[in-house]
Amino acid sequence: MKRKSDEEEGEKFTVSGSKDFSCRVIKVVTSLLIFVAGVVLGLVASSHFTPEAQLFFPPSSYYKAVQVQEKESCLNGGVREKEDFLDFRRFLKPENLTHKMSDEELFWRASMVPIKRKYPFKRVPKVAFMFLTRGPLPFLPLWERFFKRHEELFSVYIHALPGYDLNVSMTSAFYGRQIPSQELSGEGNRIYYHQSYFASVVNAVRWSRVITAVFQLSIIRVLGKLVNSVRQQCELWSGPLPLDVHWGTVTLADGERRLLANALLDHSNERFVLLSESCIPVYDFVTVYNYLTGSAQSFVESYDDPSRYGRGRYNRNMLPDIKLFQWRKGSQWFEMTRKLAANIISDTKYYTVFKKYCKPSCYPDEHYLPTYLNMFFGSHNSNRSVTWVDWSKGGPHPAAFGGSDITEGFIQSIRNNGSMCAYNSDYTSICYLFARKFAPSALEPLLNLTSTVMKF
Ligand SMILES: *[C@@H]1O[C@H](CO)[C@@H](O)[C@H](O)[C@H]1NC(C)=O
Ligand SMILES: *[C@@H]1O[C@H](CO)[C@@H](O)[C@H](O)[C@H]1NC(C)=O
Ligand SMILES: *[C@@H]1O[C@H](CO)[C@@H](O)[C@H](O)[C@H]1NC(C)=O
Ligand SMILES: *[C@@H]1O[C@H](CO)[C@@H](O)[C@H](O)[C@H]1NC(C)=O
Ligand SMILES: *[C@@H]1O[C@H](CO)[C@@H](O)[C@H](O)[C@H]1NC(C)=O
Repeated sequence: MKRKSDEEEGEKFTVSGSKDFSCRVIKVVTSLLIFVAGVVLGLVASSHFTPEAQLFFPPSSYYKAVQVQEKESCLNGGVREKEDFLDFRRFLKPENLTHKMSDEELFWRASMVPIKRKYPFKRVPKVAFMFLTRGPLPFLPLWERFFKRHEELFSVYIHALPGYDLNVSMTSAFYGRQIPSQELSGEGNRIYYHQSYFASVVNAVRWSRVITAVFQLSIIRVLGKLVNSVRQQCELWSGPLPLDVHWGTVTLADGERRLLANALLDHSNERFVLLSESCIPVYDFVTVYNYLTGSAQSFVESYDDPSRYGRGRYNRNMLPDIKLFQWRKGSQWFEMTRKLAANIISDTKYYTVFKKYCKPSCYPDEHYLPTYLNMFFGSHNSNRSVTWVDWSKGGPHPAAFGGSDITEGFIQSIRNNGSMCAYNSDYTSICYLFARKFAPSALEPLLNLTSTVMKF
């Protein structure tokens, strides 16, 4: 009986059936396995210096998520509520701005435009205020006052330096409005590389039929435990992951597009304003809202500058996609419609040309939008900006205004200096809704002027 089972096992192990040979095979395979396990361990350990290590074993995190979910439902009296996985409200407006989409996934999702014109819900168009900032927002109190009592008509998005967390109270319009700023798309390839490595290990194990299923399982279990303990150790050792790695290569234009894409996920957002930390509002919310939602055109500055700061930055390598006569310049602080926003984030062709050939002293954030809109959406654009700025002092940077500059007359002159601006085939005395650049010291005097001059 014993002999027979040995024979049977022998048959499983080797072609010849010789016991000695099978032992040698086991030895070889085992040492091979241990070697591969070493490689895997090495990979896992080294991958701990990059964030994708968490994705190495997605199943375990998946199980954890399920466990957490089940625990939570246990707390709710043990009855698991029937979940609506195609929840409509969540589709229209994400509850939480946190997501794990890569840029590629995010931009694809944000580019969805309904063909059906009528909305199956009461849609109140909102203005998305998108703040592109490095760190704190010094004019937060001013903006909060500006937004007060209009919660239904706007949404705020903040793109800050990775690792920077805006600390605001839960009642603030800025609370929980920071978008994920991590560049994730570049890591996809590396994740794939690790996974294929893992797959080949699994395949090798499967292929070597010498090892019984039980043996395989126990090896994998031991390996899993080892790997997990190493992972935990590494997490303890490496501390917070270096978050800043991708920022250096991320241009401002990337940040703008990422803000647009995140804001497009809320289907109520109809107008999109890009602002910096040094921007202030010069009119009250209702005036700004009516001005923007009532306009048939977008407000993206776009002009032909024949000097070396304009046409001089054009690169002939952009031919035949972009021609010199199409080249435009303009301020990066734009305002645009949903239609244009969806088109901007869907464009890969021209953005790639800019990334390739528009390098210092050419700046994509000053040329990409003006040129792209000029080429394809000229009639949708007013070609002027609604953000006031003072270039009159010359030099590479506009004038910045501090506390001592803030007077009633100064703000009044930004609101209306006597000239008129084109608006919906008519003219209006309101040319600017926002202004830059202001230093933090301007906050106090500005707060003093809101009720008398800005009327909010
Ligand atoms: C956030 O701000 C509050 C009050 O301004 C302060 O008490 C708290 O320590 C801050 N938290 C962090 C993490 O900076
Ligand atoms: C959004 O979700 C993340 C992760 O689940 C959580 O940390 C964060 O507090 C949530 N934010 C808000 C505003 O609920
Ligand atoms: C803006 O410029 C485009 C050309 O890019 C032109 O077609 C359009 O009429 C201009 N808009 C206004 C309001 O002047
Ligand atoms: C008013 O502002 C416009 C646009 O910035 C400018 O062209 C014009 O010269 C200004 N007028 C006066 C009187 O300052
Ligand atoms: C604010 O206005 C009050 C009076 O209206 C004045 O006394 C005070 O100095 C002003 N503060 C600043 C910082 O301008």
